[in-house]
Amino acid sequence: MSDAVYPVPADFAAKAHINAEKYQEMYAASVNDPEAFWGEHGKRIDWIEPFTKVKDTNFKLGEVSIKWFEDGVLNVAANCIDRHLPTRGNQTAIIWEPDDPNDPALHITYNELSEKVNRFANVLLSQGVMRGDRVVIYLPMIPEAAYAMLACARIGAIHSIVFAGFSPDALANRINDSEAKLLITADTAPRGGRRTALKSNADQALLHCSDKVRCLVVKHTGDQTTWVDGRDVDVKALMETASPDCPPRPMNAEDPLFILYTSGSTGKPKGVVHSSGGYLVYAAMTHQYTFDYHEGDVYWCTADVGWVTGHSYIVYGPLANGGTTVMFEGVPTYPDAGRFWAVCEKHNVNQFYTAPTAIRALMGQGNEFVEKYDLSDLKLLGTVGEPINPEAWNWYNDVVGKGSRPIVDTWWQTETGGHMLTPLPGATALKPGSATKPFFGVQPVLLEPQTGEEIHDTAAEGVLAIKDSWPGQMRSVWGDHERFEKTYFADYHGYYFSGDGCRRDADGDYWITGRVDDVINVSGHRMGTAEVESALVAHAKVAEAAVVGYPHDIKGQGIYCYVTLMNGEEPSEELRKELRTWVRTEIGPIAAPDLIQWAPGLPKTRSGKIMRRILRKIAEDDFGALGDTSTLADPSVVDDLIENRMNR
Ligand code: WT7
Repeated sequence: MSDAVYPVPADFAAKAHINAEKYQEMYAASVNDPEAFWGEHGKRIDWIEPFTKVKDTNFKLGEVSIKWFEDGVLNVAANCIDRHLPTRGNQTAIIWEPDDPNDPALHITYNELSEKVNRFANVLLSQGVMRGDRVVIYLPMIPEAAYAMLACARIGAIHSIVFAGFSPDALANRINDSEAKLLITADTAPRGGRRTALKSNADQALLHCSDKVRCLVVKHTGDQTTWVDGRDVDVKALMETASPDCPPRPMNAEDPLFILYTSGSTGKPKGVVHSSGGYLVYAAMTHQYTFDYHEGDVYWCTADVGWVTGHSYIVYGPLANGGTTVMFEGVPTYPDAGRFWAVCEKHNVNQFYTAPTAIRALMGQGNEFVEKYDLSDLKLLGTVGEPINPEAWNWYNDVVGKGSRPIVDTWWQTETGGHMLTPLPGATALKPGSATKPFFGVQPVLLEPQTGEEIHDTAAEGVLAIKDSWPGQMRSVWGDHERFEKTYFADYHGYYFSGDGCRRDADGDYWITGRVDDVINVSGHRMGTAEVESALVAHAKVAEAAVVGYPHDIKGQGIYCYVTLMNGEEPSEELRKELRTWVRTEIGPIAAPDLIQWAPGLPKTRSGKIMRRILRKIAEDDFGALGDTSTLADPSVVDDLIENRMNR
């Protein structure tokens, strides 16, 4: 780990919203009197009925309840659109950059955004979507994805976005779990010069759903698709005739804005529920302060709206702030590894936010791809999704940032709604690999993993938990509040448990060390190993499977699978390929196994529990440190696994 410290550049601090002194002062205020602090900052958004209560939160197991601004009434879409119209109707809200650089980019003004969202909202109403109904969005990175989100928000429907890389099965599960009324998809999705058949995936998914679910189709490429009359609806055609005026529905602060499914260590993905009021306040405030966003800046987050990063930092945060946000349809390496920088130059991007996995992939392609472009408009760089290794940080800093742009390494989660640990660029000295300090109102603690005791020494290591609520916190698991309590509040009483391990250095800076549960992080995508295992065992030739992560140069972690075949089945390269394809189809390409090892037996305790610690070590090629194997039912299986390991 690098010990380098990069002080805040004085010229940056001078112009920043928050400097070091102000951070200290505001942070102290935020934790000493959260009611007063958030009562004030809650006013950054427009309320139809102002709130009188600020905070009513309880982390006690069995009574977990999180409410912010609970009697306030607002509309999220009105906050992201309508309130900006008088002052910046002609300002660009969204710059859309298409997959193919030869196609024209779109500059969508706030006035245009307003018209599109109003029309879209009226289309939803015409399809019978009502307040509180769930709408699943399965779209690529096209403006209609933002229109659809905001149209739901406008009429009080709850959206649930499913990343377009997920399989029909994964899509069907999410439609069914949330009992959605409507699915919104597109014909096909260009990405990196290839096309994904989204509508055809949707067709397959809908075979497993109630026949009441209707399907709105955005004809984006115009590619031919099948059409089910009475179920499928051409949304663009309806938008043309729909009224451009749809009054925003007054919503309670605690009404859910969206559901987003995410993986945990056990069971099927959970529907993380986010609120309207607290979420928006938190997304907007973190966007402004973490990126030091100023009026007129062009801001680009390269995430997909299928992940929480896209929700908070492509759509809701930037638009609530009246910003200009870039939405990119393509991939970092198409047509070549210079695309990110070409787009930064083309649209004069001021703040650029991406994932370490992208940085690592691009850094291997050579500096000339960056140096070709004029990046002088860049003021700040950001990363999110996984720990960033110092090599990648240094490359980002030297080659992209020319050594003079702060890098904000933001730690947060689908569950937290917005940044939790992050430098504020005008206030915080940077250390490559450290997410540094808590955002306002966030009280991180390190706990002793076994006892749950809070560790008070400054320099320490433990599991990362949060002591008190913040407005962006998830409110529940959709349809299963008990699971919410069990997952986040049962292991360590009185705290929100993050699932991450963490070190705090002598300066009080936080360094995330990675998940301490069976969640892995592959190219910044979060995956439950249990999900991959259940996909594998669903294959007729597989008897048992255990999946762990292992260090991967570009992806951060790769997916390592130990597979025991059914009696009589023979291992072969062909079968390996077949299983890889199988998992891709069951979950989606992001879950495709990197390594599959044939395991005649798995290391189990006498009670039959698989000892994953051992499997992790073998996958890491670190079998010198296997620890105690004496409790295994058959210790000899370990020798076989080491002998035949894939990762050497
Ligand atoms: C997990 C959450 C929140 C947006 C993207 C991921 C890891 C996230 C960092 C970071 C080290 C990070 C954690 C966390 N993570 N950001 N800056 N440094 N680790 O959201 O899919 O909910 O995943 O991503 O392990 O728990 P997510």
